[in-house]
Amino acid sequence: MDLQWWQKGVVYQIYPRSFQDTNGDGVGDLPGVTRRLDYLASLGVDAVWLSPIFTSPMKDFGYDVADYEDVDPLFGSLADFDELLAGAHARGLKVMLDLVPNHSSDRHRWFLESRASRDNPKRDWYVWRDPAPDGGPPNNWRSFFGGGAWTFDETTGQYYLHQFLPEQPELNWANPEVRAALLGAMRFWLTRGVDGFRVDVIWLLGKHGEFPDEPENPDWREGHMEHGRLLHVHTQDLPETHGYIREMRAVLDEFSRPGFERMMVGEIYLPLEKLVTYYGKGDECHLPFNFLLLTMQDFSAGAVRDLADRYDAACREYDGWPNWVLGNHDQHRFRTKFGVERYRAAQTLLLTLRGTPTVYYGDEIGMENVAIPPGRAQDPSGLRQKDNPEASRDPERTPMQWDAGAFAGFSTVEPWLPLGEHASVNVEAQEADPRSDLNYFRALTLLRRQLPELHGGEYVSLDAGHEDVFAFVRSHAGQRVLVLLNFGAGDLTLDLSGHASRASAHAERAHVLLSSTWREGHEELGGVRLGGYEALLLRLP
Ligand code: GLC
Repeated sequence: MDLQWWQKGVVYQIYPRSFQDTNGDGVGDLPGVTRRLDYLASLGVDAVWLSPIFTSPMKDFGYDVADYEDVDPLFGSLADFDELLAGAHARGLKVMLDLVPNHSSDRHRWFLESRASRDNPKRDWYVWRDPAPDGGPPNNWRSFFGGGAWTFDETTGQYYLHQFLPEQPELNWANPEVRAALLGAMRFWLTRGVDGFRVDVIWLLGKHGEFPDEPENPDWREGHMEHGRLLHVHTQDLPETHGYIREMRAVLDEFSRPGFERMMVGEIYLPLEKLVTYYGKGDECHLPFNFLLLTMQDFSAGAVRDLADRYDAACREYDGWPNWVLGNHDQHRFRTKFGVERYRAAQTLLLTLRGTPTVYYGDEIGMENVAIPPGRAQDPSGLRQKDNPEASRDPERTPMQWDAGAFAGFSTVEPWLPLGEHASVNVEAQEADPRSDLNYFRALTLLRRQLPELHGGEYVSLDAGHEDVFAFVRSHAGQRVLVLLNFGAGDLTLDLSGHASRASAHAERAHVLLSSTWREGHEELGGVRLGGYEALLLRLP
């Protein structure tokens, strides 16, 4: 198997505001990440993705970029970044940055110029339209953060488009100069040595050139996110987006050589059939983010199996490398969402399915959503949609819990978001406990690294004879690992005797590689014991 780092590795997402503060302002910074590099290496992860670190007024906490080629002083300097990168590389860790090409900050000099006059050379770098005949917005398009997607600009008498905050005007990707500028920013960081990019809202880059209204979504219900009221057929997944992505891919290819590829993973919330088209012909995203687990409502053995089977098959059809995600800075913590009791089974799933896992910081110690008291809310999505408790992303963005101290070892002052329960859920305590969630995570990454079956082998699900159990085999070169996940509370005994392959004296005996309850030894395939909510990895004879 000749696999690239981004195929066999594990990616770890850091939300820099919340990882480690070193200058006592209650907000994490780049020297903080550098300080924690040994910890990152100890996790057995292979790459770190940093949410945006670029110059920004922080209206959307860095997803509003005012300079694509510099570091915001809140996080440090370019020199701090270089130090982080060198330190990571010295430990064998790759570093990926978060490229935000769909929109800039309204404080970016490009937008300041663009809004200055209708004949400014940068006017067409953003999306400007005349008012509707009644003076209102040009069409019915909506913002993800609630409200309309157009803001009127008094100076020039036109509206500009923003699918997020008014402070995040959309760049006009139909304009080749805009594309050249963003590709230039990619080259800037690639030249500095970054290994790849996570690309923000990549599926939104193209927009319908005639700006028609979007149709109502008949399935929308009161209480759902307001943005879902419309079917986004003119703002999402447009054909030209694939061409834009191919241009980005070509830049990455310029900086790749055999055995070492620079890569991109695209943020794409689309159904499976559409998602896989973003592999292109091997000339688009290396990985289109698979959020299908992340957005699941019914986290049951049957539903997960169905999803894993369909996704794996679709990746094969498109010749794309699969990937899996259980958490990010926009989605509630999976330990809270799927239930504490299913936490280790879910973690096992993420790290044993076929494809690259992306881990969200803190999930390795079992951090949960944190309730945000009134007055401490930060997320503009939540603040603009107060009637919808689902809109805020603050609960999953709270500071990393390093120790049991007053500020959890994250900072020396009260952090920008409140801390979660960190008396026991913290790195220091879990380091000391060989059976902690942290050490379970490490056991998984270690096995994954050691066994080609797990980091590169085939996947096939099987029927374990019980509706609460999801079972699958990972295999490579005649070696097979059986993964058993019990989504239910009951202790079970499973007859898996049909799955032994070799006629030997011990054909029925399967060695325990890892169990979420830390039991060791072996199981007879004719009667495999699986505890309630247990995750069990067996070496198949
Ligand atoms: C992406 C980011 C999210 C951000 C939005 C606008 O969805 O993940 O955090 O608010 O894009 O950039």
